[in-house]
Amino acid sequence: MINRIILNETSYFGYGSRSVLKDEIKNRNYKKALVVTQENILENVTSKVLDILNECNYNYELYMGIKPNPTIKNVKDGVLKCKAINADYIIAVGGGSVIDTAKAIGIIMTNPEFENVISLDGTAETKNKSLPIIAIPTTAGTAAEVTINYVITDEERVKKMVCVDPHDIPVLSIIDQELMMEMPKLVAASTGMDALTHAMEGFITKSAWEMTDMFHLEAIKLIFNNIDKAVNNKDKEAIENVGLGQYIAGMGFSNVGLGIVHSMAHPLGALYDTPHGIANAVLLPYVMEYNSKVCKDKFKEIAKAMNLKVDNLSEDEIINEVINAIIDMNKRLGIPNNLKELNVQEKDIDWLANAAYNDLCTGGNPRETSINDIKSLYTKIYNI
Ligand SMILES: NC(=O)c1ccc[n+]([C@@H]2O[C@H](COP(=O)([O-])OP(=O)(O)OC[C@H]3O[C@@H](n4cnc5c(N)ncnc54)[C@H](O)[C@@H]3O)[C@@H](O)[C@H]2O)c1
Ligand SMILES: [Fe+2]
Repeated sequence: MINRIILNETSYFGYGSRSVLKDEIKNRNYKKALVVTQENILENVTSKVLDILNECNYNYELYMGIKPNPTIKNVKDGVLKCKAINADYIIAVGGGSVIDTAKAIGIIMTNPEFENVISLDGTAETKNKSLPIIAIPTTAGTAAEVTINYVITDEERVKKMVCVDPHDIPVLSIIDQELMMEMPKLVAASTGMDALTHAMEGFITKSAWEMTDMFHLEAIKLIFNNIDKAVNNKDKEAIENVGLGQYIAGMGFSNVGLGIVHSMAHPLGALYDTPHGIANAVLLPYVMEYNSKVCKDKFKEIAKAMNLKVDNLSEDEIINEVINAIIDMNKRLGIPNNLKELNVQEKDIDWLANAAYNDLCTGGNPRETSINDIKSLYTKIYNI
């Protein structure tokens, strides 16, 4: 058996760690940055990074035209800007939407034959490493700063394209949890639940092995036991722990894949623009229950990482405890209960099930699934 681990090159962690930018940029001899970010976080979040660039007189220009669930147009406009200013590196300051867009821009800059973006869908055979990317996440969720994936929406085909390419990996990631303090409650809740979903799906996915198990169990522990305090009390230590936990989950799932929570979340994002983390959080407990039929033994380890008291319980009782604890956490975080509350239309369930079945993440699901099974899951979670 051969297992592969790919991680980003250099990472820094901790409150205020963005200060390393001063020396890192100088030592790398970069000349001009395209700073990819969003207008709504410019004043309160991105400015904390720009202050350092300004103090050091580092040359940069901003590209801010990115919507959550970023589109092909967002990528194409970014490529035009990157070329126009002659940037030799990219600094991405934002959530997964920003970092994913930066990855697609960086890949096209060095592999121009993929400039139509659509050809990057799935596992594209790019030849060159991306333009160097410094990734600075401002949500504690996707771990895009350490994963080999990026997700771009093709509005014409109503599809979230999951693009997998080791050439996109950032050269430098800075997980500065101070930048995550300003997240509105629902953004903190949903992005944190996305990270928990990565850890749980990654732990039971088909290709999981010792090293990724280690990452995923630690990530479950850090995220599940801190997310409530991070979201509801803005507790500094809890925010640091969730910020670290989401990265550790990324070290795992990026290398082994996910499952149908993500397959089912992607079409919801493509069709209704549902925020990625909210879709995952609503689906997670019921899809875990569905998948438990083929990996009952793994739930004891999950439960222990969640600090649940399960020593004298049967396998089925442990599974129930885990599912109920996720449902309870969603309630405490103010996440909607079901798909109806997300304004999903019952008439779309056939289309959603077909799209989810054909999503790249379905291949990693531990239980062999079918369009019908996925349809039943959507229907159950719609009505629950
Ligand atoms: N690359 C990967 O491996 C990977 C993994 C999972 C998901 N994704 C993708 O990432 C995207 C979702 O990213 P996300 O969940 O981080 O959300 P996001 O980047 O879409 O951000 C959500 C909202 O929060 C705002 N925001 C971000 N940081 C903030 C801060 N510190 N304070 C206040 N507001 C802030 C954003 O401006 C945006 O309005 C989806 O497209 C999803 O499919 C990628
Ligand atoms: Fe995700």
